[in-house]
Amino acid sequence: MDIDEKLAELYKSKAFSRRAKKHVRGRQHFLDIVVPPQWIDVCQGEVEALGYGCEKVEYSILRVTGRIWDGYILALNLRTASRVGITIPEFRAPSKVALIKKLQSIPWELWINPKHPIWIYSNVEHSSVRHEGFVSDALFDAVKRCFEKFGFSVKKSDSAFNEKREIEYPRQRLWINLKSNVCLIRIDMVGAHLHQRGYRKFPGKAPMLETLVAAIADLAGWQGNEPLVDGMTGSGTFAIEAAMKSRKIPPGIFRTFLFETWPSFQKKRWDYIKKQTWKEVSDEPSVPLIAVERNVDVLNMAKENASVAGVSENIQWIHGDFFEFSPADFGTPHGLLFLNPPYGKRISTEVAKLYNRIDKHIRKAYSGWKVAIVFPQKNLISKFTSVEITKIRRFPHGGLWIYVVVGRAR
Ligand SMILES: C[S@@+](CC[C@H](N)C(=O)[O-])C[C@H]1O[C@@H](n2cnc3c(N)ncnc32)[C@H](O)[C@@H]1O
Repeated sequence: MDIDEKLAELYKSKAFSRRAKKHVRGRQHFLDIVVPPQWIDVCQGEVEALGYGCEKVEYSILRVTGRIWDGYILALNLRTASRVGITIPEFRAPSKVALIKKLQSIPWELWINPKHPIWIYSNVEHSSVRHEGFVSDALFDAVKRCFEKFGFSVKKSDSAFNEKREIEYPRQRLWINLKSNVCLIRIDMVGAHLHQRGYRKFPGKAPMLETLVAAIADLAGWQGNEPLVDGMTGSGTFAIEAAMKSRKIPPGIFRTFLFETWPSFQKKRWDYIKKQTWKEVSDEPSVPLIAVERNVDVLNMAKENASVAGVSENIQWIHGDFFEFSPADFGTPHGLLFLNPPYGKRISTEVAKLYNRIDKHIRKAYSGWKVAIVFPQKNLISKFTSVEITKIRRFPHGGLWIYVVVGRAR
């Protein structure tokens, strides 16, 4: 018997199913949404728009109380979140012995799938047990012992793990947090980071995370019902995310999630959730969406990515120069202009020249448009006079900080 057959055998027993219901399916849990602190407010808005109350419990965690399948709904629909985790109820662990005893009493076999390697993050603050390494080892040992009783051996995930292929080969993340002798464990529900929508086959150079792109669209007040120009589209991320948002295509629809491999997973319920969500999807966006790119090979890759997401036909792909393109020539009414210029490895005088040209072109061709523009340096922003700026936010991007300026072109 291979591991899947052995697991199927275990899961089909009535006693197992009863226990899974008692501990996992039949209860309310804390569902913790992990999101970069720089756009946690945007994500909170998204969670609330899905009809959930939520509170910020840590600088990068939003908490919803719900059933495990509410976690499915959040993972499927949130455009700006990084992860969704489910928590084991908090317990006190004032000593090493108490911690080990409690960790070993958790029925791990009801929660996770032993075939995925385990990756543990531990954090310890103001507690009698002080060493994060000890806490991680105690947790891994408890999981390992639990599964050994059922004849499964679990492995640790190592640092050679390939996050780019995580949708196909996931690992099971566990976060353990010991604070003032109170222990909280979060179990990751999603596997690969939620920015991995499953459509970007060709990433191109310096692609932005899909989650960041979605956050920028939201910060710019773009709700899918105004025209959009992605003036230097690269791998097409902004245009594709915009088309998906405009058509209400859930961002997680093209991928799988770790929870689909868990013992508590109910396929029928998941299929029903996806079907209900799909009923909201429209056949096409209600507004023109335009993507401009001067490099034809890059443009073709963006189109391929968009085809995987099923939105290639919804975007007008323009092979051309942003500086020669004017939306008025297309009869497009005011909307949002998004720009992520190629500032990459250029020297600063060249970058300044590029932004100066952009400033001039916006004044000429985009008067009255909303704009969201990426800047690599803050000092360039004050020289940019074509836009009445309403927001400036700093975001992490590819190991650097970028500034996103939102406003309206004068
Ligand atoms: C930083 S990349 C955009 C990355 C994109 N946001 C993504 O997530 O993939 C900049 C892109 O702008 C294109 N580009 C540069 N100058 C341009 C211009 N004048 N007109 C149109 N496209 C241009 C480059 O070929 C490159 O693909």
